[in-house]
Amino acid sequence: MEIAINHDSCINCGRCIKICPSEIFEFTEDKKAVVVARRIKNCIVCGHCVGVCPTNSITHSSFPAEKVHKIDFSQIPTAEQMMMLCKARRSNRAFSDKEVPQEFLDTIIEAGHRAPTASNLQQVRFTLVTDPEKIKLISDYTLSVFAPLIKALDSLWGKIFVKPFAKSLYRYIPVFKKMKRENAKGNDMILRGAKAVIIIHASKVTKFGCQDCNLAYQNASLMAECLGVSQFYGGFVCSAIKQDKQNRLNKILGIKTEIHAVMALGMPQFKFVNYIDKKDAIITKL
Ligand SMILES: Cc1cc2nc3c(=O)[nH]c(=O)nc-3n(C[C@H](O)[C@H](O)[C@H](O)COP(=O)(O)O)c2cc1C
Repeated sequence: MEIAINHDSCINCGRCIKICPSEIFEFTEDKKAVVVARRIKNCIVCGHCVGVCPTNSITHSSFPAEKVHKIDFSQIPTAEQMMMLCKARRSNRAFSDKEVPQEFLDTIIEAGHRAPTASNLQQVRFTLVTDPEKIKLISDYTLSVFAPLIKALDSLWGKIFVKPFAKSLYRYIPVFKKMKRENAKGNDMILRGAKAVIIIHASKVTKFGCQDCNLAYQNASLMAECLGVSQFYGGFVCSAIKQDKQNRLNKILGIKTEIHAVMALGMPQFKFVNYIDKKDAIITKL
């Protein structure tokens, strides 16, 4: 990795020194120039230095000219537009039979990929499933993981020894039974006829893999909303993955890293016309 400063154009503003999380840059003793210090191996390749330099005086081998773009601030949504997006976004499970255009799926994944990652590791992986048979495998898998669990909870033994301590679990028994019945009739209540599923995963060695994947999820889901694509979080699938010590879904889909988020997508049958207020926010100001 190489980082260089063009001293002919550098105006010594010190922005790179202030912004760099790895303290790569420093002023010379006489403060007349900015230099690349010895700690270059600490660079996390975030590109802040190249992004912040007002005179484009920093060259970084990881960011050749074609990877550096001027920000068009007029294209950034206003706070009002952003808030309207937050208010209008919903988990719309009423998917139509229409396919989600591939370019929409690509844009949704790109938005996810642009989310921040801890230490800028960028280890988040996306698996896009559009094959209807594979989508069905995901739903069948989810039900198959829960089936023995539900059976045990629903048994006499479960009702005597587990129910008194885990009443909330029992709420899911009729839900699960209905899902299983409907699934047998061809109604998928897990992924609800999704035309695409985006599975977001990261290597086990990534310390913040779960956070990274779920930040990617939220970026991606807001992009879906902007594109008029419906999506909802595949929580049942994620719970099944957590329960399943044999990682069967990874094997079924050939995913080698840990799955942290699942997005079910489709084109909406209809749109929401009203947004609804949430419960009051619980905020502590210290
Ligand atoms: C972690 C998580 C798991 C979820 N799991 C499911 C799920 O398995 N199936 C489903 O239909 N919706 C699921 N949802 C969607 C929630 O039910 C939904 O976000 C909530 O009801 C609020 O509705 P809204 O997203 O339209 O505002 C999940 C959401 C989150 C954040």
